[in-house]
Amino acid sequence: MAFMKVRKAVFPAAGMGTRFLPATKATPKEMLPLVDKPLIQYGVEEAVAAGCEEIIIVTGRGKTTMEDHFDKSAELEASLEARGKTALLEVARSVSKLAKITYTRQAEALGLGHAVLQAKALVGDEPFAVILPDDIVDANVACMKQMVDAFNETQSSILGSEIVEGDAISAYGCLDCTPDANNPKLLAVKDMVEKPKPGTQPSQNAIIGRYILTPRIFEMLETITPGAGGELQLTDGIKALLQYEKVYGFTYEGKRHDAGDKLGFLKATVEFALKHDDLGPKFREWLKTFPI
Ligand code: UTP
Repeated sequence: MAFMKVRKAVFPAAGMGTRFLPATKATPKEMLPLVDKPLIQYGVEEAVAAGCEEIIIVTGRGKTTMEDHFDKSAELEASLEARGKTALLEVARSVSKLAKITYTRQAEALGLGHAVLQAKALVGDEPFAVILPDDIVDANVACMKQMVDAFNETQSSILGSEIVEGDAISAYGCLDCTPDANNPKLLAVKDMVEKPKPGTQPSQNAIIGRYILTPRIFEMLETITPGAGGELQLTDGIKALLQYEKVYGFTYEGKRHDAGDKLGFLKATVEFALKHDDLGPKFREWLKTFPI
């Protein structure tokens, strides 16, 4: 079979963001800013760093600010240019030049699997990345780049994974897996359990919001029935895929923040602010004086 390359990345961004109400009542969760960039921009930059040439955002009602964000803003650029604000002009321009972005809609939030299925026609018959924009991964080498490198080795679906200690794993999809003899970061997946009851987890390897999937996943998503919460679950689709193809977990290097959750978002904000070139030093000084 011809060598398969990951050229496209799908961003499911049609969810309702209920954990972040009331902020997400009229503003998409994906547009909440982490310091000075909306969450989804971090994900798009990661996909670009991984070599993806086409970005497909699955969006929904009330989410058009995402499209405006990645579009050219003629008025803003003209105004910044007229006032000689060249550095800011470059910031504004670079966002619209990040990648070729296409949008498709999920009419109803029927689950992550259903959201991915909406991208079928735009992806076509090739492997693709999936990035959940509320999982922000801070890494020296972009998490998806690490996964693409692993995919180039295996030519099989890859699920981003990390060790979650103890019963905290019960909040995640969990892998029943064995480490690959040659590359211990690769985990050969035997089965997957969604949110295992404490004490019943087959491993401490959790699935995070990063996937590379072969196009057969679409066939699987078309045949499975709604699972937990009446939603079409991506993990059920991947479980079905396991009957036909090898699937690997991949222990990435880096630190993930669940920015779709208020506490996770706050922690990510503090860490990213401390690392920020301009704001970091001043923020650090202020934090030291803050009475806790
Ligand atoms: P989440 O479960 O984290 O997002 O889904 P949510 O449903 O928006 O948030 P809560 O749980 O109500 O707070 C992970 C990603 O999948 C997308 C979401 O937009 C998010 O980026 N998603 C989820 C969809 O695109 N469609 C869906 O039907 C469900």
